[in-house]
Amino acid sequence: MDYQWYPGHMTKARRMMEENIGLVDLVIELTDARIPMSSRNPDIDKLSANKARILVMTKADLADPARTATFQKYFEDKGWMVAAVDARTRKSNDKIRAYVEKACSAKRERDKRRGIVGRPLRAMVVGIPNVGKSTFINSFAGKASAKTGNKPGVTRGKQWIRLNKNLELLDTPGILWPRFEDRQVGINLALTGAIRQELLEEQELSLELLNFLQREYPSLLTDKYAPEEKWDLPMDSAELLTKIAEARKLLRTGGEPDYQRASKLVLDDFRNGKTGRITLETPPADDPETAAGSPEAARAQGTAGGAKAAATGGEESE
Ligand code: G4P
Repeated sequence: MDYQWYPGHMTKARRMMEENIGLVDLVIELTDARIPMSSRNPDIDKLSANKARILVMTKADLADPARTATFQKYFEDKGWMVAAVDARTRKSNDKIRAYVEKACSAKRERDKRRGIVGRPLRAMVVGIPNVGKSTFINSFAGKASAKTGNKPGVTRGKQWIRLNKNLELLDTPGILWPRFEDRQVGINLALTGAIRQELLEEQELSLELLNFLQREYPSLLTDKYAPEEKWDLPMDSAELLTKIAEARKLLRTGGEPDYQRASKLVLDDFRNGKTGRITLETPPADDPETAAGSPEAARAQGTAGGAKAAATGGEESE
């Protein structure tokens, strides 16, 4: 597969972020709960060195609750404050505000010792395109103060949103481009819609997804596309795509399966959460404590994390 970025946009966004990060006390990093590793750009660690940091896993409403709980623990074990959210709602605002206070307490103490009182803390939201930065800022700021949409690279004049007397948020999020030297990372980003679809072969991508789903979420696949037939999985993914096209009557004139429409269906169903709540990754295997097996196996074992997350829907509930 071929990937392509726009070097002009990247350089400009990065420069802006480097400038702005110097102005803030706190970085709120966003990552997509369906691909928590692939949607993090490791440069953030260097860029935000010496800043307080909170990790917000967005789109938890679309992700597998058991895996979200596993990832949350994985990141918390690194000493980070982590919240899994549906960024379109305000459910987690209180929790994140409490995190902000905690993350910045050292800074407040320092200010106090130096006789500085009443200076609001400043925060900045960062993440890769489409991770939900504008949506999160809108919800967190409690008003439509940031532009949302599907266009990476939209920039506006620098403005601070005063959330309360203690906290100001930069209304322009920091954009980091994803890194995908690793083929699988590129696939994950394309599957979730983080990188432009037209750059990728839809059919190739849908076969990758079907491969993954057969391996890790076979029952979601059969429930969705063949509740009556109960396919015998795993099978060759191209054969499965044919079966899906036939089951959904996506046929060309002459009765041949319409692979293009079937591929689009499979991808759209996944992206919109219609196939089920799915996470494409598990924490790195070099971390034996948190690395999970297949989510279905974890559910069957009834792991504490899975049960807890299932009870809360995987997102923070206040
Ligand atoms: P960005 O600033 O990081 O580029 O992302 P933005 O907020 O524009 O969000 C990108 C898309 O992701 C938006 O959808 C937004 O609604 C959706 N989104 C953001 N956070 C969440 C979340 O936690 N859960 C879910 N389910 N979706 C989320 P869109 O297709 O551009 O617009 P629309 O269909 O919502 O109108």
